[in-house]
Amino acid sequence: METNSPSSVTLDFLGDLKRTHSCGELRPGDVGKHVVVMGWVHRRRDLGGLIFIHLRDRSGITQIVFNQERADIHARAELLRSEFVVAVEGPVVRRDADTVNPELDTGEVEVVAEKIHILNESRTPPFLIEEDPSVGEDIRLKYRYIDLRRPHMQRNMIMRHRVNLAIRTALDEQGFYEIETPFMTRSTPEGARDFLVPSRLQLGSFYALPQSPQLFKQLLMIGGYDRYFQIVRCFRDEDLRADRQPEFTQIDLEMSFIQEEHIFDVIERMMQNVTEAAGHQVPQLPFPRISYAQAMERYGSDKPDLRVPAMARVDDLFPEGELPIEPGMPFMAIRVPAVGALTRRERDELKPLGSELGLRVFDDMKRLDRDFAEPMKAVRERAGVEEDDLLVLVVIGEKPAGPKPEETALKAAGRFRLQVAQKYQDRHKLFDKKDFRFLWVTDFPMFEWDEDEQRWNAAHHPFTSVHDSDLPYLLSEPHRCRSKAYDLVLNGVELGSGSIRIHRRDIQAQVFEALGFTDEQARHRFGFFLEALEYGTPPHGGIALGIDRMVMLLAGESSIRDVIPFPKTAKGTDLMCEAPSTVPARQLSDLGLSLRPDVQRAIDSQPDE
Ligand code: AMO
Repeated sequence: METNSPSSVTLDFLGDLKRTHSCGELRPGDVGKHVVVMGWVHRRRDLGGLIFIHLRDRSGITQIVFNQERADIHARAELLRSEFVVAVEGPVVRRDADTVNPELDTGEVEVVAEKIHILNESRTPPFLIEEDPSVGEDIRLKYRYIDLRRPHMQRNMIMRHRVNLAIRTALDEQGFYEIETPFMTRSTPEGARDFLVPSRLQLGSFYALPQSPQLFKQLLMIGGYDRYFQIVRCFRDEDLRADRQPEFTQIDLEMSFIQEEHIFDVIERMMQNVTEAAGHQVPQLPFPRISYAQAMERYGSDKPDLRVPAMARVDDLFPEGELPIEPGMPFMAIRVPAVGALTRRERDELKPLGSELGLRVFDDMKRLDRDFAEPMKAVRERAGVEEDDLLVLVVIGEKPAGPKPEETALKAAGRFRLQVAQKYQDRHKLFDKKDFRFLWVTDFPMFEWDEDEQRWNAAHHPFTSVHDSDLPYLLSEPHRCRSKAYDLVLNGVELGSGSIRIHRRDIQAQVFEALGFTDEQARHRFGFFLEALEYGTPPHGGIALGIDRMVMLLAGESSIRDVIPFPKTAKGTDLMCEAPSTVPARQLSDLGLSLRPDVQRAIDSQPDE
């Protein structure tokens, strides 16, 4: 997009001019001082005799006044346009009471320009630097360096800095060392595709960018480092969403000679530092904990949002066979607090919402109360229904296919619970973005059935310990095995995952066998790691939390793109530098590569930019 070309203003040199104050710091106590401020022209108001500019830097805005008496300076000020870069010298004066601007921290004073240095000009920016620019995200991403000037973005970036700092301090205090691990490495199994980097020195071979430092951090435990952490970039070639980027940042850590409790304790204390650094109320410890099985039963989700009430399973309260419920399928009571009576239209919206999820919705409480007075009393009690609450009962319409029909039905009810709460959020403010409700979900299943591949996959990753008491079922009944894996959940978002690891070579071999790896395949992919396990591996475990997601929630944003300085779109494109891009054939040839003919043809047929 072509914006206005710059005007031809004669520019001044910065020379050895020194800034004395930032634009956000001047106060009545500075009145009388001769100051030098530098920044961008945020707004310009020309009242003929007087010109006012709002000068902006990352700390805030100061008003500068240009008087007509200083004709030379006034004439220079007339040339100023949005986003010009200037330095201004002059005295700080108190504003008249009627011109004080309560919206600016510096609003009681202004600087009377005695000298102006126009350091650089700017094309007309494609959007205004304001809280909510009225342009689409694509334009903001193409001109990200301008978007980053918005106070909103600057607040997010500064919060991210503070969060990182709080993490480092908390972990340093708890005896962790930050240690770096390679970016050019072998594939690590975290369930996504790898980004590959071709090797020029070994044609035909590729490095993989790490999906996480999982194996390296375990090797650091074998290396005797005891407590490791790293704020680290990870790379995953997967489908993107508002909370997923192809490269993202984790706070990754690992500890030796510990149980799950230790990890929870370290993270809980770290999250206290983090919430405080982000300017929020510090959460109470310990965070609540529930098992995966309980999370499913109460919330129909492995990442429950605790701000919305739990569901209650109530099939046992009704006489068998009197309700149209498939045997064994959960009959769930869903409560939405304090929404009061629904209008007819609102009630009519519930049924279609449920049927989209395959659920049958029972919203006629009068009829249920009449036909099942006693059971309904018990339902209300179990679900904790109070005067103004909405109560809805749901059941899955048809028994779901697949190995876990009950869980599938619970998940549908869980989604309904959230969608109904979301529906009334605007009107009733059911939950607050700033109410941070942390939760540990523990005892995840060890394996997940992969319908397409007809085999078991590791639910977390293949280095996760199985519960000691479930070890006997590892090969015979994998679906029964619970793992020592846990997630940290915040307001319905999975913030992080971790596990106690397998530290014995024999058990690791059994897990690979349960996952259908032959000895040969396991050696080929993880030979170096299996070998390391044979050299005195201590019991160990760890976790990684997504920093982008963490800052997104703390900043009250709904996309991680808003807390990443240079993010990619849902298609994985960097709109500013236009990556990914094609490369000259010569560069491919140096790497021993050529494109498949159909791909090459498609590229050749693209119009030149
Ligand atoms: P996991 O794969 O669950 O575990 O990742 C941990 C956390 O990283 C964040 N995350 C992402 N954030 C943004 N974009 C993505 N594409 C993305 N993928 C993951 C999430 C997630 O909870 N090595 C294990 C951890 C361990 O076992 O110690 C791991 O990476 O917040």
